[in-house]
Amino acid sequence: MSERTSLWSDLHKKLFEKNSLILSVGILVTVSIGGIVEIAPLFYLDSTIEEVEGVRPYTPLEQLGRDIYIREGCYNCHSQMIRPLRDEVERYGHYSLAAESMYDHPFQWGSKRTGPDLARVGGKYSDEWHRDHMRAPTSVVPESIMPAYPFLETSELAFENVQANLRTLSLVGVPYEAEHLEAAVSDIETQLDPFAEDYDGFQARYPGAVMRDFDGNPDMVSELDALIAYLQVLGTMVDFSTYEAEADENLR
Ligand code: HEC
Repeated sequence: MSERTSLWSDLHKKLFEKNSLILSVGILVTVSIGGIVEIAPLFYLDSTIEEVEGVRPYTPLEQLGRDIYIREGCYNCHSQMIRPLRDEVERYGHYSLAAESMYDHPFQWGSKRTGPDLARVGGKYSDEWHRDHMRAPTSVVPESIMPAYPFLETSELAFENVQANLRTLSLVGVPYEAEHLEAAVSDIETQLDPFAEDYDGFQARYPGAVMRDFDGNPDMVSELDALIAYLQVLGTMVDFSTYEAEADENLR
């Protein structure tokens, strides 16, 4: 045994092993160093979310649809996060990326699944299907226990405050610029009309946003328009045929 090792083991026996208080302090110091090394760098990062191409803020209509989703408590039965587990990925599609909910305030990840996960429900069904499903779920899924929401299609969407709504979101980091705020109210009707005058302006503000009348009734802007617009965009912003995950081996 070298002299150094024996000195250390002497110290170990005499100091640490015979004195529980010093041992505890020693443990505390050691564990703290580990903790600081892991946690401190996070304070110096601007963001821990890897940005992904295609993710954009919600359009005003989608954002109001999201507010209705929250108002009606849809989150009590539906989650919006696909975990990187094989059974989930086979059922729902690519596991959710952090960037996909980076503009969600509050996020809707959830964990209660009385109904299926909705993170990628966008584009899975037609607008007509959603209309029937909201009116009477059992008309399209006979065994469904989901409640009906028939009043959404007859309720006018209240959107006087949508500009303030977007401005508030911009305060917490959603990149709505002056031009998004200025056009917020008119963008509601623009999105509902595929032949809208401001088609190009709208597409520049919200690249790739789907523009059409979602509830099948062009005479009225209903709450159902907003809710279906929201459901149809869920999980569709990232193009997974071109997206390459850094660590697909994470799949268990
Ligand atoms: C009491 C629980 C419950 C609530 C509340 C609820 N759902 Fe559901 N939902 C279900 C169940 C169960 C299913 C599966 C059967 C079906 O498709 O109707 C379902 C299915 C769905 C589907 C089809 C998903 C798929 O991939 O097939 C959508 C879309 C949906 N719900 C949207 C909503 C929206 C929007 C709300 C709020 C307005 C809502 N749900 C509220 C229980 C619920």
